[in-house]
Amino acid sequence: MTAVGIDAIEIWTGNLRLDLAETFAPAQDEDPGKYTKGLGLNASSFPDVYEDIVTMGANAAHRLMERKGLTPDDIGRIDVATESAFDNSKPVSTYVAGCLESVYDEDFHHANKGERKFACIAGTQSLDDAYNWIRAGRHRGKKAIVIATDTALYARDDPGEATQGAGAVAMLVDEDPSLVELSTEQGFGSADETDFLKPNQQFPSVDGKRSMKVYLARLREALEDYESQVGGVHPEDFELVPFHTPFPGMVRKAAALGYRHIIRDTDVELTVAEEIGRQPRPEEFKTQEQYFDAVTEYTDALTETERYQAWYADTIEPTLEIAREVGNWYTGSVHVARAAGLRHARRNDRDLDDAKLLLASYGSGAQAEIHHETVVPGWEDEIAELNVDEQLADRYEISFEEYERIHDAHNHDSETDVEELTTPSEEFVFDGWGRMGERK
Ligand code: CAA
Repeated sequence: MTAVGIDAIEIWTGNLRLDLAETFAPAQDEDPGKYTKGLGLNASSFPDVYEDIVTMGANAAHRLMERKGLTPDDIGRIDVATESAFDNSKPVSTYVAGCLESVYDEDFHHANKGERKFACIAGTQSLDDAYNWIRAGRHRGKKAIVIATDTALYARDDPGEATQGAGAVAMLVDEDPSLVELSTEQGFGSADETDFLKPNQQFPSVDGKRSMKVYLARLREALEDYESQVGGVHPEDFELVPFHTPFPGMVRKAAALGYRHIIRDTDVELTVAEEIGRQPRPEEFKTQEQYFDAVTEYTDALTETERYQAWYADTIEPTLEIAREVGNWYTGSVHVARAAGLRHARRNDRDLDDAKLLLASYGSGAQAEIHHETVVPGWEDEIAELNVDEQLADRYEISFEEYERIHDAHNHDSETDVEELTTPSEEFVFDGWGRMGERK
């Protein structure tokens, strides 16, 4: 069977940077440690007034096409995943295609375009759609572009405000990929939840604490489902485990749950049992509450063991490097985590040829998906093309007053006319309806 997977990846960040410790914390009258240590975030990426989900998605896709020497004729499918869509009819992919067509002599007339919505997991669902399209043989030898793009903004003074971010990830999905091969096995955990919603409103209504519980519950279910597909999982099967990362503190909790879950009945559980005992089983307790308390105690002890900490340092910590500097990108977040892990591995000369990654995607509302990917030899050359370091370093550092104005500028209900803070350079810009997509 021909391998299908991600051939290339590009990341496009919003052009502004909000420092959470220096700028946001004093304005909120909070200890900076809440953001840097508790949530695990140093900064958020913000869009300048000329940036939105279309421009960021088009900029990422354009860089991808240029780098891979592609023209619209090579592309048979454009999928956009977003939870920041502004049009209930026309998909964001048509706006992105319009931007791209303005700089190529060809158009995307014969490409199938669509938009996926299921909160943050939609990026992974779009990847699945592209994979299935190629696998089904309906692609006529063409490639798919999958774009995950969001301006993840919360209402001012919402607790989620500290976790904001804005950016896009574009992925080229193709046969014989250069980066990772996707697997056919998947696990899902899904339930109708109301932890995070945007019913005809721009900023989300979020029950933050509940959303964290729902993330963990769906993740556990997806892991169980995945295990049933692959017949068991061992922590050492995977070199990197990229999670959906609303903020690194959430991944800290999710990783502990995942690790505890997958070490059950393995040699790892037996080894750590010498230090902290065997993990509790439900049948050993009279009430569910007693069982949950025992599990919490065991998990806390587990995360203190050297074995867990070494696993976390190798497989999780590298995936959080970019998220710490940009915040939550919703649909793009788990794909940023994969790119961050691979970028870190390349920098540290880690041999990941044929290694397995375990991807944990999550979307509020709510669904988790677990699948694995196999790293393709030569991956280092592909990941070396990312210019994310330059992009992060080039962001304009905003003051709190500028942040307030920029947030208003992106608030659809606000009437402000705000001057841009940076000058666009060789990128698509939002220049008013009907004129959007001009490249400056
Ligand atoms: N030093 C170190 N740590 C500190 C600290 C300090 N001075 N002050 C607080 N902390 C710690 C807290 O102990 C806490 O850590 P633990 O959870 O490990 O105990 C952490 O910092 C955050 O503090 P709070 O819980 O007090 O923060 P909060 O209540 O103001 O907000 C939040 C946290 C609920 C996650 C909020 O940011 C939020 O609503 N975010 C949006 C929703 C979200 O991201 N949910 C995640 C799951 S849903 C999902 O993943 C989908 C998605 O993308 C949205």
